Amino acid sequence: MTDGVRKQAVLEQFATFLNPQKVRVMRAAGLDIIEGERSGPWVWDIDGTRYLDCFTSAGSFNVGRRHPRVVAAAHAAVDHLDNGNFLLCSEQKAMLAAKLAEVTPGDLSCTMFGSGGGEAIDFAVKLARGSTGRPTVVSTVNGYHGHTGFALSAAGRASFRQPFEPLMPDFVQVPFGDLDALVAVLDERTAAVLLEPIQGEGGIVVPPDGYLAGVRAACDRVGALLILDEIQTGLGRTGRWWACEHDAVVPDIMTTAKSLGGSLVPISATVFTEELREFLIPNPFIHLSTFGGSDLACAVALEVLAVIQETGLVEHAAAMGERLFAGLRAIAAAHPEVITEVRGRGLMAGIQYVEDSLGPRMSYHLAQHGVLAIYSGNQPAVMRLMPTLVIEEDEVALLLSALDAAIDDLLAGAGPEEAAPSRPKRRPVRSTGSGAGATMPAGSPS
Ligand SMILES: Cc1ncc(COP(=O)(O)O)c(C=O)c1O
Repeated sequence: MTDGVRKQAVLEQFATFLNPQKVRVMRAAGLDIIEGERSGPWVWDIDGTRYLDCFTSAGSFNVGRRHPRVVAAAHAAVDHLDNGNFLLCSEQKAMLAAKLAEVTPGDLSCTMFGSGGGEAIDFAVKLARGSTGRPTVVSTVNGYHGHTGFALSAAGRASFRQPFEPLMPDFVQVPFGDLDALVAVLDERTAAVLLEPIQGEGGIVVPPDGYLAGVRAACDRVGALLILDEIQTGLGRTGRWWACEHDAVVPDIMTTAKSLGGSLVPISATVFTEELREFLIPNPFIHLSTFGGSDLACAVALEVLAVIQETGLVEHAAAMGERLFAGLRAIAAAHPEVITEVRGRGLMAGIQYVEDSLGPRMSYHLAQHGVLAIYSGNQPAVMRLMPTLVIEEDEVALLLSALDAAIDDLLAGAGPEEAAPSRPKRRPVRSTGSGAGATMPAGSPS
């Protein structure tokens, strides 16, 4: 079977047994990539095409894909461990929780493990409600916290919530970055404010200076807790260990997931203060997860944190981020007809296009030039670029030249053939018709 035939077979099987619309959407955006080999900042389609991974499962591969040290730690763990009995105390959980206490800011020192980001948010909300005895959770419009129970109730996109209503009561949303709007809804019934320091799926939205500090102070005034969701922004992504460090704000509860698993295992953590831990002391079995913080996953995550710490990855992300943003700003200045703004921090960059259809169309064109990048879930007009943090200068340069070339193709009217399965790779297809955007539904392909 040739690589191309194998690829079509996978897509057909996926369409039959998972979802045919997902296959159609991915084809239309030139993202019908089936991941084969993966290494560092790169991923190869099983047809052999190489891509610079700038999606990274929405920021899940900070230490790079299959980092050799992390792979070795996983092998070593598999040789001796398994998931472990979740009800027992565990050496790996204890070590990872201690390490998280070291690398998280301020007095965050206690951990509850989960297996995914949504689960970490669910526990954060449970802890906030349980320890304050208050009901209300305030989150933000266009915020994203996952698709589990409490996390979905806090989702900032109505189309994610509506089919499943009624969801949890007493969830309120306010516009992100608007301190007055937040202050107006806070009262003695507020258990917690839940937000991302920089909105990821919402379109890489950096709040105004002073916003996070203002939120912290407003929470303190009414006795509400501050939950910061650092699931995309944490572990070095923004050029600091945690995005809240840019503002010197320490939350009461912080969530991390995605990159904690080093591209190999599912794991999440909700980290909180010792004071809040009091709620759990009388009943240590009030929140349980069979796979949350499995011994295998903890062993891998420990190595991930060691790699970040010992290789200077946070500083490296800051330096590469400066290069990336300098290049992005120059491209934006040269193409105001395509890009209205670039924003973000470190290696969390958002490109605001002039209109929604450009998100999927530019995904298509970037893929033709060897870059895997996907527009924001809640803002199709925003391309997010979140490469691995192990990206080097040459790869930043490659990304920028691919963006330049993709814009040229877009302006030249090149576009995909209508979902053509045998479309040649890397050769822009001239078309006078509309691009992929015309066939793409609003919202994320992810
Ligand atoms: C900020 C943020 N919070 C929570 C989640 C949910 O994580 P998971 O998909 O692991 O449940 C995501 C996922 O993209 C996220 O970006």
